[in-house]
Formats: sequence, C-alpha cells, structure tokens
Amino acid sequence: MLNIAIFISGRGSNFSAILDAVLIGNLKACILCVHSNKPGAAGLELARRNNIPIIDICSANFESVMDYERALCKHLALFPIDLIVLAGYMRVLRGPILDLYAGRIVNIHPSLLPAFKGLNAQRQALEAGVSESGCTVHFVDKTLDGGQIIKQAKVPVYDTDTEATLSARILEAEHELYPRVLNNLSRVLPER
Ligand code: GRF
Repeated sequence: MLNIAIFISGRGSNFSAILDAVLIGNLKACILCVHSNKPGAAGLELARRNNIPIIDICSANFESVMDYERALCKHLALFPIDLIVLAGYMRVLRGPILDLYAGRIVNIHPSLLPAFKGLNAQRQALEAGVSESGCTVHFVDKTLDGGQIIKQAKVPVYDTDTEATLSARILEAEHELYPRVLNNLSRVLPER
C-alpha cells in the first residue's frame, strides 16, 4: 500500500481522479493528507468531504521559499509518506522538501516533456504548431519540469483547437494516466 501526500494549488481535478481510483480499488494507495499552498483552493473541499487531513499552509505568508518548505516539512513529518504527488501544485520546490523526499516526489505536466516546460504548456504547444501533445508524469528534482520521465500519454492537436479545447483533451488524458502510473510506482518504489 502506497502512502501518498497530494499537493494542489487549485481546482484539484487530478486529485479527484486519484481519489476515485483509490475508492474503486484501481489504485492501491492511501491518501494520508492534502496540502494546498493556497488557502482557498477549490480542491480542498474534496479533501474535507472525504475526511482527508489538510495541511493548510499559505506559501505567500512566508518570507522565503526555504521558510515555507521548512514549515511544510514539519507538518509532513507527522505522516509516514512514501510519495508526494504534485497535482496542479503551482510552486517550484527548491530546498528542504527535495532533500527529505529525494526520488519520492512526482508531478504531472500538460505537455510531452521535454517540450513546453513551465507555465501555459498548452498555449506553447499551439503556438509551436505541433500536431501532437499530451501529458507527462515525471520525478521532481531541482530543475523545472526536468526530472526523470516516468510515463507519457499523447493526444492529437487539431487545427481548430483553442487553448481551452486542447487543455480539456490533455486533462482527460492526465486523469487516466496519473492513477495508473501511481499504481505502478506502488509496486516498485523501495520501502522507506
Ligand atoms: C493540470 O493540467 C496539470 O497538468 C498542471 O496543472 C493542471 C492542474 O489541474 N500541472 P487540476 O488542479 O488537477 O484540475
């Protein structure tokens, strides 16, 4: 059984897909806690409804990223976490968390990495005129969207696509890919 912490910043649709997979037994994992760096994140409501402990620390209240991460680590230490799952978490991790959970943090990004790193990946794909895009689950390290790629899913890009239609198509692929990858990781991740 994989013990996971989920980090979000917004609506939490990937969190929802992961939770659904846990509830129907497709993902052998336990969601120990959810952290949002934004107090009003919509996804927190889902955590509340499902009685999942919330680590509610606002990153904007800290002087530095290091201070924020140190505070967050203290809360995370209360849980026996095997894997931290970034799901629409909009902060770049830089310090203590990366050291404490090295090789145990994953993210999903809405492009076929290494293409279109950073913000607005779907818009970048449209502007580049590619005929195919998708999403990538990867390990998180000190580089921006540059950690080891675990798995990707492709979707077509149509001439008629807008940022909204492409984002929706990629998001659907994300919801399918992320729980599947997590389930595979649960089998291979070494015990802590
Ligand atoms: C997703 O597109 C994910 O790839 C990106 O941020 C978005 C989050 O969506 N990192 P949600 O909060 O999971 O709905």
